Amino acid sequence: SFEYSLRPQTIKQYIGQDKVKHNLEVFIEAAKMRQETLDHVLLYGPPGLGKTTLAAVIANEMGVNMRTTSGPAIERPGDLAAVLTALEPGDVLFIDEIHRLPRAIEEVLYPAMEDFCLDIVIGNGPSARSVRLDLPPFTLVGATTRAGALSAPLRDRFGVLCRLEYYNEEQLNEIVQRTAAILNTKIEATASEELARRSRGTPRIANRLLRRVRDFAQVKGNGDITTTLSREALELLQVDKLGLDHIDHKLLKGIIERFRGGPVGLDTIAASIGEESHTIEDVYEPYLLQIGFIQRTPRGRIVTHLVYDHFQLEVPDN
Ligand code: ADE
Repeated sequence: SFEYSLRPQTIKQYIGQDKVKHNLEVFIEAAKMRQETLDHVLLYGPPGLGKTTLAAVIANEMGVNMRTTSGPAIERPGDLAAVLTALEPGDVLFIDEIHRLPRAIEEVLYPAMEDFCLDIVIGNGPSARSVRLDLPPFTLVGATTRAGALSAPLRDRFGVLCRLEYYNEEQLNEIVQRTAAILNTKIEATASEELARRSRGTPRIANRLLRRVRDFAQVKGNGDITTTLSREALELLQVDKLGLDHIDHKLLKGIIERFRGGPVGLDTIAASIGEESHTIEDVYEPYLLQIGFIQRTPRGRIVTHLVYDHFQLEVPDN
């Protein structure tokens, strides 16, 4: 699809995550030299940093196809069996949100990962029996926003662990320029830098902002993204100087205004601003922790003086 064509296809095209890329290059080359499948890979880190893209790059570099599914999509052992038995030798099986795989399914996955076989129970009651099916060798690439939410036995069965990190502004700038070129859109250097600065270290956000700003440029201008147009657009999109959006603001101001800056429990603040705890924990909080706006304490979340500075508020002396 069009969306897919924006994504890099090779390690060389993939910007950032240098350590991860370098390690993967070695493991991919070694597996190819030995004519083996690549060992199972776990990709973890905040959303939007390119886990799915990297899985596709791995498959492409290995010269195999990728099948995609997700933890929540696999409800019964039969669902997993159907996916596994459809694989061709060497394929990459990508399981997104693998921490949401039901425990009963994990147990089907263990022998599949270790011995490329599947133990399935046929029938029930006294006549039930177990049959062992051979599977083609494959590489499982699992992705999760929280490695800690994975059971230890599952985590231990991945031979390659890759932690994706937030991108710096230079890398995001490069990604914005690359995407703009693919979209046939001219963008001023300062506009692209501004987008990079306001993308919360996240390529998905950078590319989303680019598309929205491009819409403005198309309607309000001649299609080229100028610095002035992009500033106006970002203002209307409610993306502030640090890239924090409406929900970040609601979260931070909620802690300040309703809980005197904290500490406050995750569920309490989530309920008070009407957002899901999981969304806050997986999507919003990691970046706010990274830039030192929020700290986790044993008694809950607190906002730091940086937040008061950002909103130009007095730090209370409570
Ligand atoms: N688009 C989104 N993420 C990217 C990345 N890491 N490298 C290149 N293009 C991208």
